[in-house]
Amino acid sequence: MLVFSTSDKGGTGRSVTSCNLAYRLGLSGRTVAYVDFDFGSPTAGALFEISGVERGVQHNGVHSYLLGEHDAVTRVDVAATTDRRGLRRGPRLSRLVLLPGDEGGAEFLSRDEAIVDRCARLLLELEQEFKVVIVDLSAGRSAALEVALQATAIASFASLEVRWLVFHRWTRQHIIAASGLVHGKHGLLEMGAAYGHNPDELLESVRYVRTAVSGKETRNSHQFPAQSAWLDEQDRALRQLANDKQLGLTVVLGQTPMEPVLQWREQIILDADVNAHIANSETGKAYADLAERLIEPATWRRL
Ligand SMILES: Nc1ncnc2c1ncn2[C@@H]1O[C@H](COP(=O)(O)OP(=O)(O)OP(=O)(O)O)[C@@H](O)[C@H]1O
Ligand SMILES: [Mg+2]
Repeated sequence: MLVFSTSDKGGTGRSVTSCNLAYRLGLSGRTVAYVDFDFGSPTAGALFEISGVERGVQHNGVHSYLLGEHDAVTRVDVAATTDRRGLRRGPRLSRLVLLPGDEGGAEFLSRDEAIVDRCARLLLELEQEFKVVIVDLSAGRSAALEVALQATAIASFASLEVRWLVFHRWTRQHIIAASGLVHGKHGLLEMGAAYGHNPDELLESVRYVRTAVSGKETRNSHQFPAQSAWLDEQDRALRQLANDKQLGLTVVLGQTPMEPVLQWREQIILDADVNAHIANSETGKAYADLAERLIEPATWRRL
């Protein structure tokens, strides 16, 4: 399965959620390749706490591969190289490999055919080797998104399971922006159709992930009743807006709760963090549920 992580806005939790998803897939026995396509700001190395790879690699990253500077993208085995003890010595993971971006990489300025061909070659190779390939794209209507759409329109991808996850926060602007990225002008569907995708099939491969949702359980017990009522009212309004913008529950993969640990530090939430009462158990469960839902064929049945 090829999974593209996208979002319209930056800072939606796309990378943190995707890395945690990769980790949970690894825990449940799936081999995973995590490909950092956020060329301007590759952060996956930092999230997996791999020293020397925090901002990408100096040579042979994904960005320079796509530009034709070399033919072998660096692969970093996460469990073997991470500085995070609980990730290295914790419960056994299936193979989880990071293909990092290049330090100092930037968005592409050209939409070169050769870049698309190289992207397609890399993704096809990884798809053969790993159960799940997660590609973290840059935010917005980026060159990375365009290259991914172009590559996956090639005939050899037609028989593969290709999924698009759109991450957004639970706010008015984020809901409108996420909807625009898919349905709006120059959005995923319009751009995809221009590159030869069938828009109906493309839409069926899209699901949304609501991140850092502040639910009743995370609210302060000393909250004023008026504030509590206002928040409930806002939540109802957001649910209505999400429905109106075609982001209703039938197309939601899942949501993650507001997690204090992640407000302070971008990291993998280990069960050890939950057991130590540092992270909330709902957060670990949310990532495990996302991983299961992603793999479950019923999630992707025709709507
Ligand atoms: N469930 C959560 N609760 C609280 N904070 C969260 C949650 N998920 C993510 N965050 C925090 O939100 C911030 C943005 O997350 P992240 O870097 O993953 O977003 P992004 O969409 O990849 O951003 P960019 O566009 O810059 O790549 C980070 O500080 C992260 O720790
Ligand atoms: Mg990111």
